[in-house]
Formats: sequence, structure tokens, C-alpha cells
Amino acid sequence: MSTTIGSFIAGGIAACGAVTVTHSFETVKIRLQLQGELQAKRDAPRLYRGVLHGVSVIYKNEGMRGLLRGLNCAYIYQIMLNGCRLGFYDPIRTHLNSLYLTRSLSAHTDPHIQQHQSVPINIISGASSGILGAFAGSPFFLVKTRLQSYSPFLPVGTQHKYKGASDGLSQIYKTEGTKGLYRGVFPAMVRTAFGSSVQLPTYFLAKRRLVNWFGMEDGTPLHLLSSTCSGFVVCVFMHPPDTVMARMYNQTGNLYSGAFDCLYRTVKTEGILAVYKGFFAHLARILPHTILTLTLAEQTNRLMRRFEDRVLPDRVKGGI
Ligand SMILES: *[C@@H]1O[C@H](CO)[C@@H](O)[C@H](O)[C@H]1NC(C)=O
Repeated sequence: MSTTIGSFIAGGIAACGAVTVTHSFETVKIRLQLQGELQAKRDAPRLYRGVLHGVSVIYKNEGMRGLLRGLNCAYIYQIMLNGCRLGFYDPIRTHLNSLYLTRSLSAHTDPHIQQHQSVPINIISGASSGILGAFAGSPFFLVKTRLQSYSPFLPVGTQHKYKGASDGLSQIYKTEGTKGLYRGVFPAMVRTAFGSSVQLPTYFLAKRRLVNWFGMEDGTPLHLLSSTCSGFVVCVFMHPPDTVMARMYNQTGNLYSGAFDCLYRTVKTEGILAVYKGFFAHLARILPHTILTLTLAEQTNRLMRRFEDRVLPDRVKGGI
């Protein structure tokens, strides 16, 4: 129990730290994704011309405050996501293990089922707990997106005048009810599902390839490089649903009837590459995040293993 609380707090602090450092890129990303929505390329305004231009223009006009709009919502979202991942991962995994592995392991050895590690089941459990977190956190992500797209200088998207996170939530609830708070929840869940299910498999794949093809040895350089590959692939998969999500969050009326309508009309009017608007800004946010979390996870794993080797007698380890 105490280790769960410990890892919740440690994970929360790490995630919020990473979010603070990369939030400016997230702000630029959202404005790039909304810029020129449903407009042909030649008619589309180019207020923000890329990651660095975006950051500098926002900083010049709106200061640090402009770049960090919605940061508190980002914190709440991260804590909820992290909490759901930690809270639901093991119960889901144990449940799936007992559903699918009872036949291959003898049915009444419960502890084995709990401790058995199956890669596909672990991935599904990770993705499902992430999806639950995305569902729980969607209203905060919604308000965050709207706060970040608000600009008194170079506005893109519907300009929602919220005084802050709680004002945003209560305004949405008052005018549109729960349905309004959960606008865009579907692409939000798809986005997290893509990200969570791709991250670890690509990480391990990259690691194996780097070892086999380039003879790299296990260690921090290998971890840094593999997590960079993983972050890149995560971004490639996550970005299209992320763009749809940003556009669903922006609308107040019923511009789109749903996520697929949004995807279809975006591609039809702006071309297929429109789903990758703001990709580099997203990459600037995701890469440090992925590198940090995966490299740290390797360190903690190694510490755990060393600890187990020293403390646990062989008899106990044999059972695991
Ligand atoms: C944002 O949503 C509004 C509807 O609420 C829509 O008119 C507008 O085109 C959308 N996108 C942008 C970039 O303003």
C-alpha cells in the first residue's frame, strides 16, 4: 500500500515537472492545430509559422503567462491520468490473467496468475487504464485546450473567456451540462489508447534492434536512444487523434457531428497532412517526456532488481 502511494507521489511529481518544462510547446501545438481549420491552404492564415516562431511570438505578445495558460489544468490531468494508471493497471491485469491464463496454468494456483507477466496482457492493461484516465481527465483537458487557444493578440479558434480552470468548468457545466464537459472525450480516449499501447513495444523493439544491429550495450546511452525512438513513434500515432481532439474541444456549436466527421472534413478541405499540423511542437513536448519516464523507469527497475537480489532469499524469487 505505502509503495503504491509512494509511486503515485513520485510519478505525479515527475509528470508535473515534465509538463511544466514542455507546456509552452503544447500551447503552440494547439494553436497550430486550430490555425486554418476547414480552410484551403492558400486562404489559411499563418499567424504561427512553426514551433520556435510560435513560442517567440506568444512570449513577445503575451509573456510567460501566455505560454503557460492552462498549466494548472495540465497538472490535474496528469495527476488523474497517473492515478488511474497506477490504480487500475494491476486489477485489470490480474483480471485478464485469470480470464485467459487459467487454462494454461493449473486453475487453482491463484498467486501464479497474479504474478504471471504476459506482454500482450500488460500492454492491454496499460492502454485500458490510460483510457480510463483519459475519460476521467477529459473535462480538464478541454478547459486546458480552450485556455491555451485564448489569445488577446493573435487568436485562433473560438475565444472562450474563462478566468481559470474552475471558472471554465462551471461555465461549461452551466451552459451545456455534463455533455458539454465531455465534448471530444472519444478522440481523447483514442489518442491515449494509441500512445499507451505503442510506447513500450516500440521501446523494447528499438532496444533489441540497437543491440543486435549496432552492438550497443545495455546502459544509459541505449536507454536514451531507444526512448527517443519510442517517443517519435508515439507522436506519429498519437498526433492525428490529438488534432481531431483539439478541434472537437474548440467547437462550441455543432461544427462537427463527431470525431469521424471532423477527421473526414479536415482531410477533405486541408489535405491529408492537416492531421499532422503542429506535429513538431507535439514532438518537442513528447520526446523529453518519454525519454525522462522510460529512462527513469530503467533506473528504478535496476534498483529494484539489485534490492531483490540482496534482500530476497532464492526460495522466494523462485516463486516469482
Ligand atoms: C472553432 O470552433 C468554432 C465553432 O465553435 C468554429 O466556427 C471555428 O471554425 C473553429 N476553429 C477555429 C480555428 O476557429
